[in-house]
Amino acid sequence: MCGIVGYVGQRPSNLSTRPVDVALQGLARLEYRGYDSAGVAVLEDDGVRIAKKEGKLKNLRDALDGEEVSASAVAIGHTRWATHGAPTDGNAHPHLGGKDDELALVHNGIIENFAPLRAELESEGFVFRSETDSEVAAHLVAREMSLTGDLTTAMRAAVNQLEGAFTLLAVHRLSPDRVVAARRNSPLVVGLGEGENFLGSDVAAFVDNTREALEVGQDQIVTVTADDVVISDFSGTEITEQKRYTIEWDVAAAQKGGYDSFMAKEIHEQATAVADTLLGRIDSGALHLDEMSIDESVLRSVDKIVVVACGTAANAGSVAKYAIEHWCRIPTEVELAHEFRYRDPVVTEKTLVVAISQSGETMDTLMAMRHAQEQGAKVVAICNTHGSTIPREADAALYLHVGPEIAVASTKAYLGQITACYLLGLYLAQVRGNLFPDEIAALMEDLEQLPTHVQTVLDGAAEVEELARSMKDAASVLFLGRHVGYPTAMEGALKLKEIAYIHAEGFAAGELKHGPIALVEEGQPVFVIVPSPRGRDSLHSKVVSNIQEIRARGARTLVIAEDGDDDVLPYSDVVLRVPRTRTLFAPLLTIIPLQIFSCELATAKGLDVDQPRNLAKSVTVE
Ligand code: M6R
Repeated sequence: MCGIVGYVGQRPSNLSTRPVDVALQGLARLEYRGYDSAGVAVLEDDGVRIAKKEGKLKNLRDALDGEEVSASAVAIGHTRWATHGAPTDGNAHPHLGGKDDELALVHNGIIENFAPLRAELESEGFVFRSETDSEVAAHLVAREMSLTGDLTTAMRAAVNQLEGAFTLLAVHRLSPDRVVAARRNSPLVVGLGEGENFLGSDVAAFVDNTREALEVGQDQIVTVTADDVVISDFSGTEITEQKRYTIEWDVAAAQKGGYDSFMAKEIHEQATAVADTLLGRIDSGALHLDEMSIDESVLRSVDKIVVVACGTAANAGSVAKYAIEHWCRIPTEVELAHEFRYRDPVVTEKTLVVAISQSGETMDTLMAMRHAQEQGAKVVAICNTHGSTIPREADAALYLHVGPEIAVASTKAYLGQITACYLLGLYLAQVRGNLFPDEIAALMEDLEQLPTHVQTVLDGAAEVEELARSMKDAASVLFLGRHVGYPTAMEGALKLKEIAYIHAEGFAAGELKHGPIALVEEGQPVFVIVPSPRGRDSLHSKVVSNIQEIRARGARTLVIAEDGDDDVLPYSDVVLRVPRTRTLFAPLLTIIPLQIFSCELATAKGLDVDQPRNLAKSVTVE
């Protein structure tokens, strides 16, 4: 939710990139976080100068085209996902602060007590020009600066008056060599360069320029100059133990690499994504999760698992439930993180909470996890973004290692999350003795085959793409699945809704006769995810019966079935094949045709696949 970038440095004159260009470059990388408006601020000899435009970054670039912008040492930028106030030029960031516009500030998050603060500042003569909550922070920091003359002290005084979640970056006419930032419950990282330093909502903001980064903790203030980074907490104590790390992603990972969209590229990276999530964690049949820093005795005492997550991550959690209950015999619930803490859930010291989040910054998931920790539960985070808040606050963190996911619609992270959940489930089974070592070794051997199987499905993309193009005018698509096929149906429907804006619903196939079958009429397309005929009980034949039932009522049946399953042929209008694997591992394969379908259909409709309307990549407000 909103992308923030800051830069301080004086580049040699043979490098044409001015600070404002560095900020724009960072914003281009962060645009996936929000694209309702974009803006930059620089310090010029006569004061602060801002430029901001409603809509995508391109509008701002067009507005700046041909403009003389000074090569001063400092710039900040913002790409917005609107919360308070419509996406207009006026509500775009940066906001000017102070009675003489001596400060500019960008904000990510929500300031909950902005109304009384605004009334107070207005009564003191500060003039507001937007409907945003953020503008109060600009005036507050400016007011404190006029009292103290030091931007870091002013920022500290201001944040101690704010309630809510925020990352703030401020520049001031009287401190032309620095950007001062603060964070509470909202992301911020520092990029370390040679004679230049960077700030960003995530490392994508500066990965073109440096791969050395510094974590910024909760309730901390960072003062960045070209040669120095000083971090202190909200009470003014300097943080001397700083967590420095090297970013593993390279620049190519943040580029489209010849694909039409990041989503298409990320779908096609999924064989590598699964392999990279497994990498280094399996050795001679044994499972090694060095990062599981929760004591084994605690894991042995766990009597309930609760997965908290949102959106696609929650669908990955639903797959995990089937695997963990089957392998570990631990009751496992999956709860949408935003519902969790508000219903007074039963959580004890014997509860293990699994928080799944690609970004590691989803506010709902973070709050759910903190609530569980307050009740004494231990939390394992399954995340992709290094240094983000959720893994940092968790008791243990399993990283996916799938590289940056830029498209708003999550694809490769979903496969990484499911893979990491399998690893967690097998690890718990290993520690608790639910499975024999040879059983675990056999499962892991099959898991290691998955990247090859994923690639096989990806190699068949053309057939799915053709189907998608032929259905670009569909008004509604239904998805049915059973057992682990149910979360796949949910995820397939979510993908189609979010990027193609088509009404789509996922149902448990067994639920069909309890209501949803009433939706089926002549020509209604229905994807059906068919379980393996070699799987549990009579699930396969039950789903084949479901296909017959909907077809008898006019449905167009689009069937995803494993190689060699010919039982589906008489009742299928289209059959999409996936390689054979264990039932519990099938979700890594069956979702792929549905991802390709949504991506291609949205492309055929001429939609912006990577930046669908109304959405942002990470939802850092509740
Ligand atoms: O970063 P997270 O995994 O915590 O994000 C959770 C959801 O917001 C996310 O999966 C969302 O549903 C995606 N747009 C789905 O494609």
